[in-house]
Amino acid sequence: MKFTTTRRGLLRGTLGTALATTAGCRRELESELGSAPAVEPPHGGPQVSITTTVNGVARTAQVGVDTSASELLRDTLKLTGTKVSCGHGACGACTVQLDGVPVTTCILPATSLHGKAVTTVEALGQGGLHPVQRAFMAEDALQCGFCTPGFVVEAAAFHDKWRAEQGARAPTRDEIAAALAGHLCRCGAYENIYAAVAGACAGKFDKSPETGPRVDARAKVTGEARYTVDVQLPNQLVGKLLRSPHAHAQVKRLDWSKAVAAPGVHGVVELLGAQRTLRYVGQELVALAAVDEEAAARGLSLIEVEYEVKPAIIGLDAGLDPKALPVYPTRNTRKALPNANEAPLLPVRWSGNLRGPFQFLSKKRGAAERAVKRRREAPADGVALAATYETQVQCHTCLEPHACVADWRDDGLTVHLSTQAVHTMSEDIAQRWKLKHEAVQVLAPYVGGGFGSKATLTTETIAAVELSRLTKRPVMVALERREELAVGGNRPAQRTEIALASSASGELEGMTVRSYTDAGVAVGSAPSMLFRIMYADAPKHIEDWDVLTHAPPGKPLRAPGGPPAFWALEQTIDELAHHRGEDPIAVRRRFDPNPARAKLYAWASALPVWRGRRPPAQDKGRFRRGVGVAAAGWPYFVQPSTRVQLEVTAGGLVASTAAQDMGNGTRSVIAQAVADVFGVSPSSITVQLGDSRYVPGPMSGGSRTSASVYPAAYHAAIELREELVDFARGRFGIAGAVAAPGGLHHGGRTIPWADVFKAAPRLSTVGKRKRDKGGYFLPPIKDLAVGKYVSGGVHVTELEVDTRLGRIRVLGSWIGIGVGKIYVPKLARSQAIGGVTQAIGYALYEERRLDPRFGALLTGGLEDYRIPGIADIGEFEVYFMEDGFENVRSGGVGLGELVKLAPAAAIGNAVFNATGWRPRQLPIRPDRVLAGVKG
Ligand code: FES
Repeated sequence: MKFTTTRRGLLRGTLGTALATTAGCRRELESELGSAPAVEPPHGGPQVSITTTVNGVARTAQVGVDTSASELLRDTLKLTGTKVSCGHGACGACTVQLDGVPVTTCILPATSLHGKAVTTVEALGQGGLHPVQRAFMAEDALQCGFCTPGFVVEAAAFHDKWRAEQGARAPTRDEIAAALAGHLCRCGAYENIYAAVAGACAGKFDKSPETGPRVDARAKVTGEARYTVDVQLPNQLVGKLLRSPHAHAQVKRLDWSKAVAAPGVHGVVELLGAQRTLRYVGQELVALAAVDEEAAARGLSLIEVEYEVKPAIIGLDAGLDPKALPVYPTRNTRKALPNANEAPLLPVRWSGNLRGPFQFLSKKRGAAERAVKRRREAPADGVALAATYETQVQCHTCLEPHACVADWRDDGLTVHLSTQAVHTMSEDIAQRWKLKHEAVQVLAPYVGGGFGSKATLTTETIAAVELSRLTKRPVMVALERREELAVGGNRPAQRTEIALASSASGELEGMTVRSYTDAGVAVGSAPSMLFRIMYADAPKHIEDWDVLTHAPPGKPLRAPGGPPAFWALEQTIDELAHHRGEDPIAVRRRFDPNPARAKLYAWASALPVWRGRRPPAQDKGRFRRGVGVAAAGWPYFVQPSTRVQLEVTAGGLVASTAAQDMGNGTRSVIAQAVADVFGVSPSSITVQLGDSRYVPGPMSGGSRTSASVYPAAYHAAIELREELVDFARGRFGIAGAVAAPGGLHHGGRTIPWADVFKAAPRLSTVGKRKRDKGGYFLPPIKDLAVGKYVSGGVHVTELEVDTRLGRIRVLGSWIGIGVGKIYVPKLARSQAIGGVTQAIGYALYEERRLDPRFGALLTGGLEDYRIPGIADIGEFEVYFMEDGFENVRSGGVGLGELVKLAPAAAIGNAVFNATGWRPRQLPIRPDRVLAGVKG
């Protein structure tokens, strides 16, 4: 069984096969192209010569018949602004203009470029930015930026045609959606893309601006931003992995002697552990380095493996079967297990494939059980509601896949890595390979999304480093899309049994929760913290169980454990409200002591969409509208070791830290902190990230980044400003000089900071992330502190259910957020909308499917694994309630996880409001809607 379908294979399967195997066809093509006779490429297969014009420059190139256009542009011509993400023409990241017409290039044969003019994103900016590029910057129509070149190239073509035909009339959302439907953005930048394209077409960005609220936006809209997959070092090899075709097997024999002898192969390393047991389809056996992808693929095919295939446990029900064979049969096999969460693993009991219960977050456990029992037995005095909710596996689906380029030299190791933990990775790598920390440099200037899946040392890095050490050459290992969807990371499936007791007067008397989580071979899912945080005063009996199965390990995905917990909890609260005939927001206000949410409930209650909602199931026709609400809460984390260095240069201020910006806006938050102190524009601050040689920065996980870097950068700026004032008083003898917004104030005039910087010596300060006033809820453990505040969210959704086709269309999302001070409002709004967009995918579309008997991945491409597109999202309103959080250093905490929690439950509640049917399984697929909605 072959695990991957490569782009090369796909091309061979179409045009390539015919050309490569039929001499007559080959001659025909050569004649048509007017090319030189074909020559044998280094590893077999015919080549042809093509002439094309790329960004205005005439080019002649030798290409194989199965060379894709994107390979020619990226690998040969070094135009890496054109990205490759899915490799099968579904995501649009690789779009260029061919004679002015947008085309995807990952499955387009390079021969198709012959005689035509290609325009890539790099050329749109020549001679000044295109209006669409300016619009994307101004409207913040991007986050990680990996999809952005494709969107910009397509939107520019649409814009140019539109302006020629329609003048300055702004297109509608539907017209823009139709034009950009072939593009996917995992960060969820669609709402701002609508605004950008409409504004550009209306002429709003014909001449300005040249900057935007995101300080690295220009690099992303022009294709200048270099991601790990864009790294091309001299003599760089391609690393590929041999993966298990079986969900459960023992490797009896592994022989790669023929592979290492194959042309172009430079080395092989084994990745199997000492147990030589395979526990999921896709598990890595061997990594191989070769001169190119074709040689690597041929080398892998020559590796001989003898398996003893065993029965596999696939899915939650199979794992819960007490007769099932244990995935980890002995104590010895349960060491160093993959962790599906960010919190450290605690010792918990095992019984077969059940690990748990984890229940120390319960509160008045006995009282909760007794309350539910009492109300079940005597419902006349109150009510006990009980139900089981299920959620599916959701894949992280970063558009930049997991990728690493390792360069092991005598003088040290450089690791280009798509990671959300630059500093931590440098420490982990040094420790694993027993190197001095200063001998390791991790580089990640741009990261195309992470969402929790790129926070630890994963196999692509281990493989690349081992292969580089072996071959003494740089080696890139980058996952194909199918690999990314198989092993790149996932939010585990979960089954939640929840029961709630309420008195006749509507008091919340108790809650019991049992969660069973299938994170495949990983453990530690533990969503119970969130049940504990919400409605905190009520008695609760909370149990978490890990259920082990033969599936790839789950990983923390933006708010790990959260969306499944809120899917169950917030629908149960809604059900109680309807049972009692009360307003669902009023019930929450009564149960909820959280001060941030109290104000958000008032905001949500006053929304016209909420005030205008109707009782459940009022519509009787085919299309039925509904409105739902759900609340959310998330703990606040900070990384106390965070440092930000700030230097004065003649060109201005330069801030640096070993953190990363994976679309969450780290650069812009640091620039804003410095700008707030000096009273200058954030765009005038240079921010350097993504290099472990800078002072230690935080990893990006648990919404800790902004809460860690803003106060540290602010502290550095305050200190540096003082030094500059001292310098001015001493060097210039202006004793009365004081710092003022924009410059030094003295004698009735202000000397601009730019002039001060030019005259100043190269001063430098390092700011710290100081402790919160009053300390933390939990003191730092492994450099992670838990703050005393819990952030608050209230989410309202309006949607329409098509009862004939079973489809659900989200019309609008109202996002209320209480996280204290918002440092960069435009970016915070983008991140909130992006998180909700991902949550809409979770609620309605996304579902990783495995073959139920053999565990093979059935959803291996972005057409099978469906993430939301631009037409799937509805409109948004974001409300920031900035009160509270006074004791938090600088006054604000993160929101990246918070916004993911409530939308699925709000959608479920809106479906109930529309139809009278309450969905209890995710995603809310059309077949489930049709089965659930009667009449
Ligand atoms: Fe679109 Fe990140 S900005 S994928």
